[in-house]
Amino acid sequence: MNEHDVRKSLSDLPLQGLRFFEQTSSTNDVALAWATDGALDLSLVCAEEQTRGRGRGSRHWLTPPGVALAFSLVLRPKPEEASSLPLFSALGALAVCEAVEALGLHPEIKWPNDVLLNQRKFCGVLADAVWLAEKADSVVLGIGVNVAPASVPPPDELNFPATCLESEAGRSLDRLSLLREIVSALLYWRALFSSDLFMLTWEQRLAFRGQLVEVRGEAGEGRIGQVEGLERDGSLRLCSPGGSTFTVQFGEVHLRPVV
Ligand code: BTN
Repeated sequence: MNEHDVRKSLSDLPLQGLRFFEQTSSTNDVALAWATDGALDLSLVCAEEQTRGRGRGSRHWLTPPGVALAFSLVLRPKPEEASSLPLFSALGALAVCEAVEALGLHPEIKWPNDVLLNQRKFCGVLADAVWLAEKADSVVLGIGVNVAPASVPPPDELNFPATCLESEAGRSLDRLSLLREIVSALLYWRALFSSDLFMLTWEQRLAFRGQLVEVRGEAGEGRIGQVEGLERDGSLRLCSPGGSTFTVQFGEVHLRPVV
């Protein structure tokens, strides 16, 4: 991918700005700086390679050159979106699912926002916000997709099994059209942000529904329950082995199946 091809491929989408890098530290960091500097809603930062890509919980996210997608979209929350900030990362996950389903694959969302194929992660979403006087002035929605096998980190760097799209599809894929399909789906779902359809589609795509999982918070405290679905605010609803319902809020939460 090069800047010319990316611009051409995205030219009919209503993006308000595009910055492309052969190599950068982190597209989220670049987009955050741009947002602080006045980037408009729907400004996109895209890189072939990241040297300091960030994952959730300060983890490192690997983006070697030419084998993955790494991009970040600056969104200026509209008044009706401002009360549902946690849903922005779900927006990214939903968009990736839609684009990947068009390849004939069956992606699922590991709550809140990892995207899986065959119970292995191929995509992560990181939403960062720029706050001004207790109001989110902008949200930077960063998406990383493992496309070719060389984008999959070595097993000792993983905290959940990983895969890539090409291994799952069994063929090589065009990263440019994938980028276009994801951004296009993102614009579609943004228009439906937090609607009943948005929530229902997210719920239907939840991985491990009906299965026993362990959810572990930042402090390391774990709880086991069967995944039931989503609450209206996007929290995850589970049923404990004793039969009582409990919910898990957004935050630094790790979810894995109990086998
Ligand atoms: C995760 O699963 O922990 C989230 C990973 C998010 C990675 C993407 S790649 C593009 C953007 N820039 C970053 O530094 N991180 C996000």
